[in-house]
Amino acid sequence: MPQRGEDFRTIWLKPDDPKVVQIIDQRLLPHEYRVHDLRSWEDGLVAIADMYVRGAPLIGATAAWSLYLAAVTSGEPERAVRAAAAALLKSRPTAVNLRWAVDRILAIVDRHRGDAALAALIRADAQAICDEDIEISRGIGKHGVALLEAISSRKGGATVNVLTHCNAGSLATINWGTATAPIYFAQQQGIDVHVWVDETRPRNQGSQLTAWELATNDVPHTLIVDNAGGHLMQHGEVDIVITGTDRTTRCGDVANKIGTYLKALAAADNNIPFYVALPSTTIDWQSRDGIEEIPIEQRDPAEVRDIYGLCDGKPVRVRTTTEDTPISNFAFDVTPARLVTGLITERGICEASEAGLLGLFPEMAAS
Ligand code: MRU
Repeated sequence: MPQRGEDFRTIWLKPDDPKVVQIIDQRLLPHEYRVHDLRSWEDGLVAIADMYVRGAPLIGATAAWSLYLAAVTSGEPERAVRAAAAALLKSRPTAVNLRWAVDRILAIVDRHRGDAALAALIRADAQAICDEDIEISRGIGKHGVALLEAISSRKGGATVNVLTHCNAGSLATINWGTATAPIYFAQQQGIDVHVWVDETRPRNQGSQLTAWELATNDVPHTLIVDNAGGHLMQHGEVDIVITGTDRTTRCGDVANKIGTYLKALAAADNNIPFYVALPSTTIDWQSRDGIEEIPIEQRDPAEVRDIYGLCDGKPVRVRTTTEDTPISNFAFDVTPARLVTGLITERGICEASEAGLLGLFPEMAAS
């Protein structure tokens, strides 16, 4: 299993075949580490929709690379990219990075109509999206670690307990992660840090991805069921909550994996700071009221009905309820800005409000 070093990437162009994009099939972790080839934009669409890749920044990057595949595999690249873009935009509705990345590539298509180098230009921009994402995560780590430093010094160097939900780690980005970046920075600085990892039903991104990611990088952590956070907070076992986000409105409302809102409520009741690690690519400057305006993805009931794990050393899926039990599967919820202590962005930490965000991103005032 690879460690998350400086060279770690979650998506890359195959070194000896520039018409193939490679990803980690995250559906199989932590029981199997398998690299999966994307050879067409349709492969990219399946990888996003079926969650071979997931996490808002990586969804955006995969869409960008899928549009490159559309261009490089077609005799009519412009038409192919536009058709692929329309299909990709429908694949996962909540993470706004998808729309952001698709719009960015479509702007290249608009600027270079009829250009024979279109595929090469898209390839360069898909690469740039990945490289920029790493720097964004690094920025979040650099600013966010100050919060952990402050807690550590207040506690006289005793363990800083962070609670996180879902996977907003390197696996959700290109490297470093968003919620995990301050933790990795803290680890590098010798701060004693421990992470409570929410299991994150139904797909278990906590137990299958975050726990694996932290383990492979020697970060002390403990897996808990989703309902344990409130209890731990009441007993002083959580110093700070840091989650990721799939879309944050201009006014600071945060959509993230289902259950995040309940963690924010419990944190507020226990006076525990609740921070959201927010790459600027995840801000939806067009929306204000998250509960009214953010589309919440509903996924296959089978994700709730079945659970994936190992049995006698073999990966299996097991049904946890009767075949015909009615199921709803909302993948995300919205935490109102009033419950968010602060947003950790690549440019600094701000209040979860329009004024706070515009203070860091003044160029978006007119958008
Ligand atoms: O359904 P997923 O696994 O794509 O959901 C991921 C999350 O909710 C993450 O917290 C979010 O995308 C932020 S990733 C840096």
